[in-house]
Amino acid sequence: MQDIIDRLEMLRVGASLGGGQARIDAQHARGKLTARERLEALMDPGSFEEMDLFVEHNCTDFGMDENHIAGDGVVTGVGLIYGRRVFAFSQDFTVFGGSLSEANARKICKIMDMAMKVGSPVVGLNDSGGARIQEGVASLAGYAEVFQRNVLASGVIPQISAIMGPCAGGAVYSPALTDFIMMVKDTSYMFLTGPEVVKTVTHEDVSAEQLGGAVTHSTRSGVADFAYENDLVLLKQLRRLLAFLPSSNRDTPPRIDSGDDPKRRIYSLDNLVPNDPQRPYDMKELVAKVVDNGDFMEIQAGYAKNIIIGLARLDGRSVGIIANQPMVLAGCLDIASSIKAARFVRFCDCFHIPLITFVDVPGFLPGLQQELGGIIKHGAKLLFAYAEATVPKVTVITRKAYGGAYDVMSSKHLRGDLNYAWPNAEIAVMGPKGAAEIIFRNEIKASANPEAKLKEVTAAYAANFANPFIAARKGFIDDVIMPHDTRMRVIRGLQTLEGKQLSLPWKKHDNLPL
Ligand code: HXC
Repeated sequence: MQDIIDRLEMLRVGASLGGGQARIDAQHARGKLTARERLEALMDPGSFEEMDLFVEHNCTDFGMDENHIAGDGVVTGVGLIYGRRVFAFSQDFTVFGGSLSEANARKICKIMDMAMKVGSPVVGLNDSGGARIQEGVASLAGYAEVFQRNVLASGVIPQISAIMGPCAGGAVYSPALTDFIMMVKDTSYMFLTGPEVVKTVTHEDVSAEQLGGAVTHSTRSGVADFAYENDLVLLKQLRRLLAFLPSSNRDTPPRIDSGDDPKRRIYSLDNLVPNDPQRPYDMKELVAKVVDNGDFMEIQAGYAKNIIIGLARLDGRSVGIIANQPMVLAGCLDIASSIKAARFVRFCDCFHIPLITFVDVPGFLPGLQQELGGIIKHGAKLLFAYAEATVPKVTVITRKAYGGAYDVMSSKHLRGDLNYAWPNAEIAVMGPKGAAEIIFRNEIKASANPEAKLKEVTAAYAANFANPFIAARKGFIDDVIMPHDTRMRVIRGLQTLEGKQLSLPWKKHDNLPL
């Protein structure tokens, strides 16, 4: 018996070395942790249980039959994060570049199937050169098996991807199907084809960083949701992200005792919005002041900055925040911000996370570029997402809510549950000057001093119509609230809406304007 135990121990130690000490050292020299070190940092101490440690590939071509490493380049298993069960796989770059073989795809599929059955999130720590080239179509088949499961799991269990090395080909498509992508700056890349292929095909000379680095994807392409300094920071933030989420769509998000007074009044908010309606202010200040302990996990912070999205808590309940940002493009909705917010609204709706929307929007961004880019279709995504969402929806208009963007931003008419406005809010088809120019066109033309006339009719229009009371009289706004009461009223609103049930008409699935 002792022989068997010793042999098992030897196998375990051998397997845990992956591709060997030299490759582990190379991984460390690049500032990267190994696959197992990452899992240790991700999970609660000592909670990770590995599965399929002894799995090997079955490839016999290109001398692969002489080259077996137990586990075959991916560590899979289950552990705890803040005491809740989470399944994870971690690709081992020291073994065949973390490439995906038929055998290691089966390992990933096994934990995904298990996670679906029991209702727990799946975390993928990706560090892989893509399909294992030696295995050909067998590895492509392996990828498609993973993709299929990603799609079936979408909206059922949270799926989070971390990109922690150079990820190419299939190694980026599975993450693209998951809910969130986190990247590490300087050491992680995502591209379908690397710089050398790009140079051959399109003659473009680009670096890996330009083509698929963390900064590129978190500020320009919008592929990545988060970019962090190093592996450890990323893994800590991944734990933080999961803490906001339920384990599956069968659960509600965990509620915690945040220790922050739900009745806290915030008097500085009374002076947040400048008197001049053309002057911007920082909507992030509002968000930080309203949510529990200022703890706001912003998502896609560097992309489409004219809209702010992220997770926070109000009286200990997880909420999704969507807010126009007057500091960027005056808070207009454009293609990128509509897509960014629409995806987040749909994510929250999948997982029973109430939507809190702060509105200060002068409309959709006009212009040839936006129209040619398809703002009609892309803006409709956000409208669609809000209209189909059945979670509690609380909206606060802090200043402008003009035109179609008023409708889109969680208005009463899209089944907004509780819609509030600050006293200075302007709810109208357009801004006072634009409206006055159209309504009083003839009077302005006929006037001896058209400029003075425009000013006069604009002021009259603003006084009569640029306020929240017309909408409130119609019941489109449930109440005009004091800015300093915002936190208290939104929390009270969430209490009112607890237990909300709303279902959609039967359908196979909807037809979101993609
Ligand atoms: C087999 C691979 C591999 C792969 C890397 N390796 N990628 N082995 N299949 N896909 C091996 C290397 O041969 C090397 O082994 C070791 O991993 C480390 O790789 P290096 O190249 O030395 O590392 P680095 O310089 O950091 O470059 C990493 C890399 C590069 C950028 C990922 O290895 C690379 O370009 N790999 C190929 C990427 C690719 O074209 N993948 C296929 C995509 S097609 P040795 O023993 O020499 O150290 C695809 C189809 C799926 O994925 C489509 C689904 C939609």
